[in-house]
Amino acid sequence: MSIIQVTSRRRTGWLVTAGVQSQLFEPTETRIMQRHYGTALSASDARALLAAPEEYAPKQDSTVDHGNVVAGFGGLLAVEPLLRATSYADGSHALHLAVIDPGRVEGDELVITLADPAGLVVEAHWRTYAGSDVIDRFTVLRNGGDGDVDLLRAGSGAVALPDWTGYRRTVPWGRWGREGGLDRAPLTHGRNVSRGWEGLRSFMPPWVMIDDGSATEDTGCVCTAVLAWGGSGYVSAELSTNDRARVTAGIDDTDFRIRLRPGEEFTTPTLDTTWTDGGFNAASQAWHAHIRRHVLPRHADRPVLYNSWEATLFDVSEAGQRELARLAARAGAELLVMDDGWFDTRSDDHAGLGDWSVSPVKFPAGLAPLIREVRHLGMRFGIWVEPEMVNPDSDLYRQHPDWVVHTSGRPRSEKRNQLVLNFARPDVRQWAIGWLDALLRDNDITFVKWDCNRGLSEVGWPGESNPERVWVEHVRGTIAVLSEVRRRHPDTEFEICASGGARVSLDFLAVGEQAWTSDNTGAVERLSIQNGFSYIYPAVAMGAWVTDTGTTGHFRDEPLGYRFCVAMQGAMGIGGDLTRCSETDISVAAEWVALYKQIRPIIHQGRRFRVESTPVGVADVVAYVAENQSRAVVFAVGRGDWIDSTVARVRARGLDPDAEYDVRVISRDEDQRPTEEARLQTTGRVALTHGVSVGWPGFYPASVLVFDRTG
Ligand code: GLA
Repeated sequence: MSIIQVTSRRRTGWLVTAGVQSQLFEPTETRIMQRHYGTALSASDARALLAAPEEYAPKQDSTVDHGNVVAGFGGLLAVEPLLRATSYADGSHALHLAVIDPGRVEGDELVITLADPAGLVVEAHWRTYAGSDVIDRFTVLRNGGDGDVDLLRAGSGAVALPDWTGYRRTVPWGRWGREGGLDRAPLTHGRNVSRGWEGLRSFMPPWVMIDDGSATEDTGCVCTAVLAWGGSGYVSAELSTNDRARVTAGIDDTDFRIRLRPGEEFTTPTLDTTWTDGGFNAASQAWHAHIRRHVLPRHADRPVLYNSWEATLFDVSEAGQRELARLAARAGAELLVMDDGWFDTRSDDHAGLGDWSVSPVKFPAGLAPLIREVRHLGMRFGIWVEPEMVNPDSDLYRQHPDWVVHTSGRPRSEKRNQLVLNFARPDVRQWAIGWLDALLRDNDITFVKWDCNRGLSEVGWPGESNPERVWVEHVRGTIAVLSEVRRRHPDTEFEICASGGARVSLDFLAVGEQAWTSDNTGAVERLSIQNGFSYIYPAVAMGAWVTDTGTTGHFRDEPLGYRFCVAMQGAMGIGGDLTRCSETDISVAAEWVALYKQIRPIIHQGRRFRVESTPVGVADVVAYVAENQSRAVVFAVGRGDWIDSTVARVRARGLDPDAEYDVRVISRDEDQRPTEEARLQTTGRVALTHGVSVGWPGFYPASVLVFDRTG
């Protein structure tokens, strides 16, 4: 990782290198031009690029703008603008940027500064991290003039993609119960925009992968741009009519307006980028390594948790939780998380949100007796909260109806019978910090599931001159509250949740050890959901529960051993109603949990590969490999129910081809217990090319292959 200045023929540029990628920027009089995004370059490579003649600029065309990565709206411009602003001092709508500082290095950052005649100063920042392939980009906008400036679009950054003969765009999509979707299609001319709309969370997270048109999991060039923003963002991939491609991204600007008084500044979220020529797997692995090392507050192996939601819904009681705790401990859980329904008048989703005192009816002696028992059983205790929300039927709302995000004279639309508290307001944040702090101080709670079950509507802040700030400051206010609570309770871990997986983002993962992936816990559906998650986010942060079948939203009758083979691929938990399980099922669960604990370090810290194996299309194969290639775990899971048995040829990935491995093939027996079905010796090369043949039953087949190097 390095940032160096390179000069050639009076042209000067900045070469930013992070692991396998470099990006080269040349400040000109009025622009910052990106001259390279791709393979790592030496200083002499960069000099050669800068020595090349300026690009030919056709008279009536604007090809030259392709590399302009800080494009301001209003001047001669043919690319998507990064910035748009109105200056009240000179009444202008047209940004006219000029470079006023061609670059300086501040620690791990490169900063190039531009300014507009009305006084808006624009700092473009690039940041690198030790041992990471990621280059971050963010923008600081400062009002250096005498009058107010309104920012109408404050993009985080843009990248000019390499020149390829084809471009394909992969973007995520999702909805409640169907997270992890991926749309992949050739990039079409014009702007291909993916945009969230819920304001404080998003089922359409702002990231994009652009590949060279034919990349596979293991080959080809892939560029990724991830906006570190848990609210609504946009990511625009633009293919010009000259067949050159760029990406521009930032906070959603549909209703964006930030007023800067003289001297004030606004810092955008970061746009984080990688490049690889190793296909989609290498792209994902770069993100996993970066997130583990530089984003997550902790990346130690996650505990096996038991969550009570699906077992009890709102019907929480001390006796019921004690019973679940005893059974969860026998199944091998390390943490008991009591979900929604423990507080005040919360007996369904119509009332109670906002009144965060322990229900005296459900817990007559408070939480202490339950937590003592959980501790005695050898587990930690965790609890569910949803601090940003309020039910109109609550004392909090009756006392502070003005605390909710709303617009005067308009209805306050409810969703799940709740409204959103305005976390942009300092008094609301103080209130939240106050009760969360007390809850964690007064009780031995070391895990918090932080939920957020609706998006924004009627966005306003009556009495404020710049109410649109809510879009930005609610998200930042929430993260500020989380950070403050973490600071006061450094041993407490957080799980980020929003109606399932609507808040899986880099900014929230910086204040939460794991994310809840989806409320859909059906194992077959989970295969797709987990696949989508894995494109950017590591398994250590992917909450995955084994739950009951035959319950609401989970109709398939997947065998218990199959469900374990799917949930084991992430941060595994158990979420079924253990009181309805037989003695055998609890002991079966305990055996799978014991196996999981043996292989958990490889799953949580190893390199993850999506593996193409046969039978094609029905076998979901995922491999996790220790950095030193001494151990690997391969999960092979079939999607269904065929009439006949078959042979799956399960290939490994990431092994040392020249090493010898002992392989244990673990499947399930008739009681659903894990059982060693075969044990063999092979070489890395054979496992990588021919794979290991596994006999599969016709009904929901699933196997775990554990590779241990023997020579
Ligand atoms: C959301 C979460 C669930 C559960 C419920 C509780 O839907 O995603 O896991 O916590 O809220 O109301």
